[in-house]
Amino acid sequence: MAYFIIICKHNMPCLIFCLFLYLSLCIISTATLDIGYYQSTCPSAEAIVRRAVNRAITQDPGLGAGLIRMHFHDCFVRGCDASILLDSTLSNPSSEKESPANGPSLRGFEVIDEAKAELEIICPRTVSCADILAFAARDSVQELGGISYNVPSGRKDGTISIKDEATTNIPSPNSTVEQLQQMFSNKGLNLQDIVALSGAHSIGMTRCSLFSHRLHTFNATHLQDPSMEVKFASEMKDKCPSLAASEQVKVPLDGLTPSRLDNKYYRNLVKGRGLLASDQALMDSPLTSKMVKRFAKYGRVWMPTFVDAMTRMGSIEVLTSSQGEVRRHCRIVNL
Ligand code: HEM
Ligand SMILES: *[C@@H]1O[C@H](CO)[C@@H](O)[C@H](O)[C@H]1NC(C)=O
Ligand SMILES: *[C@@H]1O[C@H](CO)[C@@H](O)[C@H](O)[C@H]1NC(C)=O
Repeated sequence: MAYFIIICKHNMPCLIFCLFLYLSLCIISTATLDIGYYQSTCPSAEAIVRRAVNRAITQDPGLGAGLIRMHFHDCFVRGCDASILLDSTLSNPSSEKESPANGPSLRGFEVIDEAKAELEIICPRTVSCADILAFAARDSVQELGGISYNVPSGRKDGTISIKDEATTNIPSPNSTVEQLQQMFSNKGLNLQDIVALSGAHSIGMTRCSLFSHRLHTFNATHLQDPSMEVKFASEMKDKCPSLAASEQVKVPLDGLTPSRLDNKYYRNLVKGRGLLASDQALMDSPLTSKMVKRFAKYGRVWMPTFVDAMTRMGSIEVLTSSQGEVRRHCRIVNL
């Protein structure tokens, strides 16, 4: 800045121009995320999150799946601002957690709480909950998939969390590829991102209720969804016997390697072994089937595409710099 003043000495228009240039550079450079954002303010931030995640995954690998999904559900509603972590309160009785897209099945909240509690001791009011969640999702990918990558950080936490926004922004398991395309493009993500990110369904669980109509009551002419492999359908009917019981019962999204994040998800789809209609649709739509087959065949092509899509998902509508706040407790906004 001082440099500009010197070269523009006694020249008012030049000074104004330089001031403008300086300010716009400032805005551009702070509106983005940076790898190693906490290097000087809290050097052990990422290591602390990693340890909390690894402890949790050792006890229950499903928590890793939960954290990856939680980051997705955070980013799709008001951007990656940790709005998913806010509990309902008297003044806001319906936070995102109350949405049917989240409430009954999102898991891993305690892992974030634990990491945050440790961080508040070492570096109080420094590391945002949105960044903790982004790191935790990455650490889960590393632990369950052996895929490592850097996560740009510097997100700030939002203060608003509304149930209905989750319900409308998070895709339904019945979505067609066209509907997915619309919802993801609202967030700046394309078809390749959809296919690559859906590979996360190679870990974790789904409730039978979200797909069992495909087994028992598909439509007027077919009781069973003809896009599902017949043998697989009868296996799944044993596990999800009736529509009535299907709210309580859960099955792995990838029965072959349920705790391994890999490209077997795509191999399942190629064989007609996708559980959610929205998963099988990726194989059955001409918009995406070529990508599914390619990822099924080449895990080495899928991995970097997944990482790239995760990184772009992690930067959706982020709050940075003076926007938002760094929450002291991830479940409640600061007073
Ligand atoms: C493409 C649109 C998507 C749809 C329609 C969808 C839908 C679903 C549904 C219905 C479940 C089962 C939840 C339950 O039982 O309540 C699920 C689980 C899961 N989803 Fe997705 N999802 C999508 C994209 C993604 C993305 C982008 C990610 C992350 C990158 C992701 C990660 C997961 C994970 C890890 C689980 C297992 C969670 C657990 O076991 O706790 N999903 N998804
Ligand atoms: C999906 O579609 C089936 C059949 O049309 C319906 O019964 C079910 O409630 C839908 N599930 C969701 C989660 O929208
Ligand atoms: C039932 O689904 C099949 C396969 O998608 C389709 O070919 C058939 O036309 C559907 N029947 C009705 C009555 O919608």
